[in-house]
Amino acid sequence: MPTARAAVLPAAREPLAVDTLKVRDPRDGEVLVRIGASGVCHSDLHAITGDLPMPTPCVLGHEGAGTVEAVGSGVRHVAVGDHVVLNWVPFCGACWYCQSGRNYLCETGYVKAMGAEVFHQNGTTVNQFAGVGSMAEYTVVPESACIPIGADVPLDRACLIGCGVMTGVGAVINTARVQPGESVAIFGAGGVGLNVVQGAQIAGANPIIAIDLNERKLGFAKQFGATHTINAGSTDPVSAIQDLTTGRGVDYAFEVIGRADVVMQAFMAVRRGGRAVVVGVPPAMEMFSLPGMLFPLAEKSLIGSLYGSSLLARDVPRLIDLYRAGRLKLDELITRRYPLTQVGDAFAAMEKGEVARAVLVF
Ligand code: APR
Ligand code: ZN
Ligand code: ZN
Repeated sequence: MPTARAAVLPAAREPLAVDTLKVRDPRDGEVLVRIGASGVCHSDLHAITGDLPMPTPCVLGHEGAGTVEAVGSGVRHVAVGDHVVLNWVPFCGACWYCQSGRNYLCETGYVKAMGAEVFHQNGTTVNQFAGVGSMAEYTVVPESACIPIGADVPLDRACLIGCGVMTGVGAVINTARVQPGESVAIFGAGGVGLNVVQGAQIAGANPIIAIDLNERKLGFAKQFGATHTINAGSTDPVSAIQDLTTGRGVDYAFEVIGRADVVMQAFMAVRRGGRAVVVGVPPAMEMFSLPGMLFPLAEKSLIGSLYGSSLLARDVPRLIDLYRAGRLKLDELITRRYPLTQVGDAFAAMEKGEVARAVLVF
């Protein structure tokens, strides 16, 4: 039974600790993964602030990649030594959603992973963020949480596909199915939003309008394919978007922050018949208030996107191939790398808006 140093959240709003935990062996259908890298996503920060309820104590991290160290009985799709990207919605393959081809909505895989009791400290179970817990030297996850990739892609870049890239690119390609020449606006040019921007570029959208409060993020957005940027701190984004689209509004607006006031802006920024897509995760009890009349009389809609509506086993290899072909930016997403012991600095850098993504490397 290995031990692992891990970033542990003792309880919401308490300081993180780097502790050494016991890691149990993989059981039937499970895989022990030696983590190579774990991205720092705003959802991890939401767990720290309490905006995203997560059972504690908890090993943070859900944007991970690593190497298969051992497999339990019955594991067929990965073998010891494989490089894998971790999937934070493991799927059962048998429920109504899995059977109907939407395994990212699986009802049971996530619940089972959340109760897996992988980590222990002084006889107490330490939970895993989203059933993954990738801010640890080792973790144990279900086989369906491991998507094998080639060994040629460095793990610090591959890990980003496990959350931000898949969520962002998938929201454009799979959820909204943006067509060439359609117009999009992206509210929030952070680690996930920049991937909505590059997803829009891959889809051939035009214009691609990025909105943020932070000039550095708007600079990143240009690098990732935004044709226009708007600083919402100094300019009203809705009227600026209308000005850029002959007064009509965009075909699609993506909210990639998790704020009710910005969801309202995204809804107002879409044209008649347009769709606003909520990608950012609002605080648990947050409500949206929108002008109801515009649903029927302007035929606007507001839709959600979970994990980019992605089928990980299909879409991770596609994104890896786009990266290899030079058409998906991963290297440019990583502003800074940190060792696990500096996890607090990595979160602080994200909070201060200094990084596109910070990545913990093991
Ligand atoms: N208007 C415009 N931009 C804003 C605003 C606002 N009112 N408030 C914050 N932002 C910008 C920040 O400046 C930052 O660039 O939103 C961006 C958020 O990016 P990150 O902090 O990197 O967060 P990210 O990891 O991208 O996650 C965004 O998606 O997965 C969910 O839980 C996650 O809700 C979070 C969202
Ligand atoms: Zn995430
Ligand atoms: Zn299922």
